[in-house]
Amino acid sequence: MSDKLKVGILGGTGMVGQRFISLLENHPWFEVVTIAASPRSAGKTYEEAIGDRWKMQTPMPEAVKKIVVKDVSNVEDVIADVDFVFSAVDMTKEEIKAIEEKYAKAEIPVVSNNSAHRWTPDVPMIVPEINAAHADVIEYQRKRLGTKRGFIAVKPNCSIQSYAPVLTAWKDFEPTQVVVSTYQAISGAGKTFKDWPEMVENVIPYIGGEEEKSEKEPLRLWGKIENGVIVPETAPLITSQCIRVPVLNGHTASVFVNLGKKATKEQLIEKMVNFSGEPQKLGLPSAPKQFIQYLEEDNRPQVKLDVDFENGMGISIGRLREDTLFDWKFVGLSHNTVRGAAGGAVLCAELLKAKGYIDKK
Ligand SMILES: NC(=O)c1ccc[n+]([C@@H]2O[C@H](COP(=O)([O-])OP(=O)(O)OC[C@H]3O[C@@H](n4cnc5c(N)ncnc54)[C@H](OP(=O)(O)O)[C@@H]3O)[C@@H](O)[C@H]2O)c1
Repeated sequence: MSDKLKVGILGGTGMVGQRFISLLENHPWFEVVTIAASPRSAGKTYEEAIGDRWKMQTPMPEAVKKIVVKDVSNVEDVIADVDFVFSAVDMTKEEIKAIEEKYAKAEIPVVSNNSAHRWTPDVPMIVPEINAAHADVIEYQRKRLGTKRGFIAVKPNCSIQSYAPVLTAWKDFEPTQVVVSTYQAISGAGKTFKDWPEMVENVIPYIGGEEEKSEKEPLRLWGKIENGVIVPETAPLITSQCIRVPVLNGHTASVFVNLGKKATKEQLIEKMVNFSGEPQKLGLPSAPKQFIQYLEEDNRPQVKLDVDFENGMGISIGRLREDTLFDWKFVGLSHNTVRGAAGGAVLCAELLKAKGYIDKK
């Protein structure tokens, strides 16, 4: 029998769910044994439920094709064979909050890609290189939920990964004000060009809820645990605009920053490229060797050339230069469905396993 932890994917038929299934093919610690989705898909084999909706560039893994999809709302049925679940369902915020809590209360750890619990005070929102220590809040959450194993952990919004890691690496220089514009790929909306033809040769200057997340979520990553909850940081002030662009995968960010302490370009680059955290220390299977790369060429980072850096788990930065109004400006790029969604959640689950929060039932 395999020693791997048995995993269920809630929302396994969607864009992010498919990414989980692709990333977990041959994963050394985790094995997908259960897939759940809406009643529309329940009862069909995964292959039948997906039909012509497979959106990954690699083929559907053989091992999942014949898995019979379950209904996310049948919690007892879904949890029967699993040690923990990843969640990527698209339901209302209230429905997601309730269903994820039901799984946690049924003693199943939930590592979620959804935004529903990102501001629940005792739910850790983790980018493992940045705030692995927030996992410690799980003991307080378990007390509230009355569980021994079950809890919820989440990862933040996809777009902040293209600039928040840099601001973290520059902590010693005390970023005070940040202006960020993100140019976000259509896969961030669960879409390809086939199912969103309006996006071909188009730009849409609105992504619902995204600007608030881009401004506030980094502050929660930098927060501290006080009295059993995460208390967000209050600085730097961040303002953002989020724009949908005709790109399949890869969110780009154009960033202007003021710093409280003077720094040279060499110092800023040195901080970025040497920045690492627990995943690198622990040698987690999905950890990029280098989290942030700096590209010197004026025309980088480019989506086509750089989005898959470190298998989509690394972040590419370029065009760092002094600005006339702000101290510095730069451009960042991250893979929104890998580092920004499923890959970030898999790395989070690896961290939680390494720290002993996720284990065999
Ligand atoms: N795409 C990204 O880059 C990204 C990044 C960060 C966060 N997110 C978030 O991740 C979640 C999933 O996004 P996505 O892009 O993968 O969406 P998606 O492609 O539309 O997939 C949605 C999934 O949810 C399931 N679902 C829908 N209604 C349901 C219901 N009533 N009960 C149970 N399951 C239901 C669908 O099942 P059926 O196939 O049976 O309909 C499908 O598996 C969303 O909350 C999204 O905001 C996405």
